[in-house]
Amino acid sequence: MTPILVTGGAGFIGSHTCKALRAAGFDPISYDSLMRGNPEAVQWGALEIGALADGGRLREVLTRYRPAAVVHFAAFAYVGESNADPLLYYQNNVGGTAALLDAMRDCEVGKIVFSSSCAVYGVPAAIPITEDAPCAPVNPYGVTKLFCEQILKDCAAAFPLNFIALRYFNAAGADPDGEIGECHVPETHAIPLLLEAAAGGRAFTIFGDDYPTADGTCVRDYVHVTDLADAHVRALRALLDGGDSMALNLGTGRGWSVRELVAAVREVTGRDFPVQFGPRRPGDPPALVAEAIRAREKLGWRPQHCELATQVAHAWAWRQGGGKTWKRMRDLGPADA
Ligand SMILES: NC(=O)c1ccc[n+]([C@@H]2O[C@H](COP(=O)([O-])OP(=O)(O)OC[C@H]3O[C@@H](n4cnc5c(N)ncnc54)[C@H](O)[C@@H]3O)[C@@H](O)[C@H]2O)c1
Repeated sequence: MTPILVTGGAGFIGSHTCKALRAAGFDPISYDSLMRGNPEAVQWGALEIGALADGGRLREVLTRYRPAAVVHFAAFAYVGESNADPLLYYQNNVGGTAALLDAMRDCEVGKIVFSSSCAVYGVPAAIPITEDAPCAPVNPYGVTKLFCEQILKDCAAAFPLNFIALRYFNAAGADPDGEIGECHVPETHAIPLLLEAAAGGRAFTIFGDDYPTADGTCVRDYVHVTDLADAHVRALRALLDGGDSMALNLGTGRGWSVRELVAAVREVTGRDFPVQFGPRRPGDPPALVAEAIRAREKLGWRPQHCELATQVAHAWAWRQGGGKTWKRMRDLGPADA
């Protein structure tokens, strides 16, 4: 099996991608500090504990496994936290990516799939958002993703390196087989918070109901984590086949408002729960919906689980049915929680 280094493999999207990589005949090796991840999530391939900033450890792991490529998820990904502590984000996301690329160059690993984000676009002038739309991020998190894309371009011009930057919209859902799912501590993502409310945990807060959208709440394009994992396998194959560097949107092309999301969770779970309204959060664009044609053209990627109800149902099933893993992950928590 071809070894692939997966930074952030103990996180949400990284762990699902390790499962997809294994199913596609690759040998994923997760490299994760466990600062925000969970060892229970590493079920497909080895776990090597280490931080991106630790160049010595990275070189040791790259030298031992000789991966054909790197899939780079490891980053901090909370918009609010990035507003409050931008240096944490520049150090971890930008500094970490530079350290990784430095180690890759030294160890002659010249292919990388990078987790970018729709946050690079900021407040888009038009919906749906194409890859050619101007990039003007409105929070430090989005800036770190844009900086990393620029670093990748500069490195690709300077030494043998090919990259595919995948700009995900909102990752959602859970493994349809119920083997893995989403568990962040603390949780900030809407669907797990809504499921927590449905499970009787607490009220759900909608931040802002006066946005210029059909019902006043933010509109987002939710993309199933298994579809994201599939896109990574396709991107990896494209690079290993000698494909060019590029940036691609990963979304479904359909937007859902927060009110629609609340309705979907009530419908799928069959449970009612309190909803309250809070002020807008800084750095939250009104609507983010992908034009996702390029990923289809370049990678043959077609998302399979586009319906919001399906995404919610998979996340709910994992939380309830496969709940043993969910509970263990929640109770264990990340190393710095
Ligand atoms: N979840 C989304 O909706 C979404 C959307 C767009 C982009 N992204 C990007 O996708 C990637 C994965 O997101 P996720 O939701 O799976 O996040 P996650 O927090 O679940 O996983 C990230 C993992 O990276 C690890 N990590 C972070 N910094 C590290 C470092 N310096 N060294 C080693 N390990 C480190 C964490 O411990 C964690 O296991 C991130 O880069 C994120 O910015 C996520």
